[in-house]
Amino acid sequence: PLRIGILTSGGDAQGMNAAVRAVVRTAISRGAEVYAIYEGYQGMIDGGDRIRRFGWEDVGSILNKGGTTIGTFRSKEFRERSGRLRAARNLLLLGIDRIVVIGGDGSLSGLDLFRAEWPGLLAELVENGEIAPQIAEAHPTLMIAGLVGSIDNDLVGTDMTIGADSALHRIVDAIDALASTAASHQRSFVVEVMGRHCGYLALMSAIAGGCDYVLIPEHPPADGWEDRMCAELRRGRAAGRRDSIVIVAEGARDRAGNPITSEYVRQVIERELDEDTRVTILGHVQRGGVPSAFDRWASTWLGYTAAEELLAATPDSEANVIGIRGNRMSAIPLVEAVRQTREVAACIERADYEEAMALRGSSFTE
Ligand code: F6P
Repeated sequence: PLRIGILTSGGDAQGMNAAVRAVVRTAISRGAEVYAIYEGYQGMIDGGDRIRRFGWEDVGSILNKGGTTIGTFRSKEFRERSGRLRAARNLLLLGIDRIVVIGGDGSLSGLDLFRAEWPGLLAELVENGEIAPQIAEAHPTLMIAGLVGSIDNDLVGTDMTIGADSALHRIVDAIDALASTAASHQRSFVVEVMGRHCGYLALMSAIAGGCDYVLIPEHPPADGWEDRMCAELRRGRAAGRRDSIVIVAEGARDRAGNPITSEYVRQVIERELDEDTRVTILGHVQRGGVPSAFDRWASTWLGYTAAEELLAATPDSEANVIGIRGNRMSAIPLVEAVRQTREVAACIERADYEEAMALRGSSFTE
């Protein structure tokens, strides 16, 4: 039978379990064997009991759980060729030459490198006498499928990444909770949300939470924004609004590329409006808790599609990321998706916001 490995890598995200479950059960129902690789790429390097054959029941009762039950890790060793060599050896010893990786852009680019190096790694393992030549010949290529697990929703080419919707729910719940205490005291709250270079969580939560102002990396405010923000807050108060909430993305910047911190925003409001102002940094609460209904069903669909794609793969198949585009499952070229995602981050770093927006909105498959 075909043997598939599955791992989760990088920051955990709600919905990863649903995707793992779908991959495992789809593969089993197609007659394949599935191996769960614990602790991400590190488990592949360590081998032993970190790579376990999974049966149908091993993924029971995880659909509604947050995080990833097979563990995740940001492996430094996998960044070294020596780590990847050990990983290849451990996979080959079990006859695994197809893997699904659920992770962010860093995890996916590591996967592509691993795939590209695979023949060279095999040759080295044969030369060192670590694996028999027949084993190398039986598995000449590594076939891969990527799923994007990240609350940031930052991968160019996909509409929604695994975990983004649940994180958004968490943020909106927090905004609702803060609004009542803010209103009681007529206070302003500055809420800092995650997302790295991506303002998705900040923008969508500001809209869904009915907030007063939002600062995101891709669209930095023009000079004088502090005055405009304060004018907005004053206008709200004058209209009878008792709570003011400003959302700051953790990657927010000004036009010159300088970070805008939540503490700076707090100071501006306190100084200009002479109001008691508090900062709430939501932090890892956003990555915690149960997955939303969307993250359960969409991740199930994604996992099913990834498993089907991988089982049908041949050594000549493209390396794809399976993502959601326009309410459809879509296979997009992994290398290009990661390249453009990194390019967006690089544009934001060098304060080239127009290019960043153009790239994020672009769709390279059209
Ligand atoms: O990429 C997901 C994310 O949660 C980001 O939003 C955040 O910047 C980062 O990971 C936090 O990383 P860590 O969990 O290593 O602190």
